Amino acid sequence: MKLFIDTGNLKDIQALVPLGIIDGITTNPTLLSKEPGDYRDNLKKICQIVQGPTSAEVVETEAQAMIKQGRDLSKIDPWIVVKVPLTKDGIKACKALSSEGIKVNVTLCFSPAQALLAAKVGASYISPFVGRVDDISTPGMELVRDIVEIYGNYEFKTEILVASTRGPMHIVEAARMGADICTCPPAVIDALFNHPLTDVGLKKFLGDWDKAYGAAANR
Ligand code: G3P
Repeated sequence: MKLFIDTGNLKDIQALVPLGIIDGITTNPTLLSKEPGDYRDNLKKICQIVQGPTSAEVVETEAQAMIKQGRDLSKIDPWIVVKVPLTKDGIKACKALSSEGIKVNVTLCFSPAQALLAAKVGASYISPFVGRVDDISTPGMELVRDIVEIYGNYEFKTEILVASTRGPMHIVEAARMGADICTCPPAVIDALFNHPLTDVGLKKFLGDWDKAYGAAANR
């Protein structure tokens, strides 16, 4: 399963990409609006660092305007994936942009029916927002399970990009279900590394080594 970072923050991206586990980036208007500087320059820099798919969302709401803005965003860098919302206009824009060879991530997906529509118009990615579904006391990961089943029935090429993840269990469950990608806030990527027994075990190994050979030996 691929791991994307859900951020527009260059420092976070520069810190996490060298770990070698990051396959791409997702942004949204809220995330990009928090960063200083020109958003197009920021997107270009992000693409250069990650060298992987980088979602940039349209802020137009009418199909023709979305298509125009999507074409414009796609010119920023070959790694740009145009993100459109799951509305009727967004679906029309997805079909048009995908037919031109521009990769499209259909976002704000909250139902399996919506995911089916995105696949039918050739979306490269569908983004179910699991955390926001959890927020309304409904299991968000059930949405992912349904989409995996539906896409598997028809061998759609659209990749399932699990978004709005809030903690490591969203990522573990997504991997168990066979989702293609999880996009995670930087704090969730950090949390994937953590286990208290790793810390305890490492402390004991190093302590035993130091007792036998002295703290300076081979360190
Ligand atoms: O990429 C979409 C995602 O950022 C939404 O996350 O935490 O705002 O629900 P959240």
